[in-house]
Amino acid sequence: MKGIIFTEFIELVETAFSIETAEDMLELANPSSGGIYTAVGNYDHQELVTMVGHLSALTGVEASDLVMAFGEHLFNRFTQLYPQMFVGKETVYDFVESVEGVIHVEVRKLYPDAELPTISTSRTDDGALDMTYRSPRQLGDVAHALLSGCIKHYQEDLTIRRHDVVDESGPSVHFRLQPAHSEALAWTT
Ligand code: HEM
Repeated sequence: MKGIIFTEFIELVETAFSIETAEDMLELANPSSGGIYTAVGNYDHQELVTMVGHLSALTGVEASDLVMAFGEHLFNRFTQLYPQMFVGKETVYDFVESVEGVIHVEVRKLYPDAELPTISTSRTDDGALDMTYRSPRQLGDVAHALLSGCIKHYQEDLTIRRHDVVDESGPSVHFRLQPAHSEALAWTT
């Protein structure tokens, strides 16, 4: 996983909690990088998972809440770091539909060794957007949090439903975005 994800995470821990908390977390996690991440370096994504676990123990905040806060923050940082990627994408649905074929393609141009997930989308007849996430790294919680950050960025009133599935093609996470007050039924499959 790219170092930029780690540096953003550690900076958020420093500002949301404290520099001491970030230092304690790094000491407990004892990452092979020694806790020194460069934006363009590549590191084991498991180090991030380990840090979240220690941060949860140190702060008493549920790991899932920490990942949600981080993913939302990360999305916001992406809008600042890569503003050109947001040009012409006027809605959450437009944006999410462009992640696989445009956004992550651009990410790969910037970082040829990026480890990216596979994301597919389809619109339903009743106005929802379905998104399926697959990745050997199984960071469905991060995908969920980025989606939530995306909705906040566009200030749309959408809800996210989530289904984790394991079948013969392996694990995947299905998300359904739909207008908060929509009559559409949640899941039929
Ligand atoms: C709703 C929108 C998005 C979703 C759901 C999403 C999902 C993800 C997930 C889950 C990962 C972790 C790797 C994995 O699971 O295999 C990832 C990696 C990444 N994404 Fe996205 N992403 C989104 C938008 C963006 C945007 C807007 C940018 C930048 C402009 C971006 C840049 C990256 C980068 C740099 C990585 C790290 C690659 C690596 O560590 O090697 N993503 N994305």
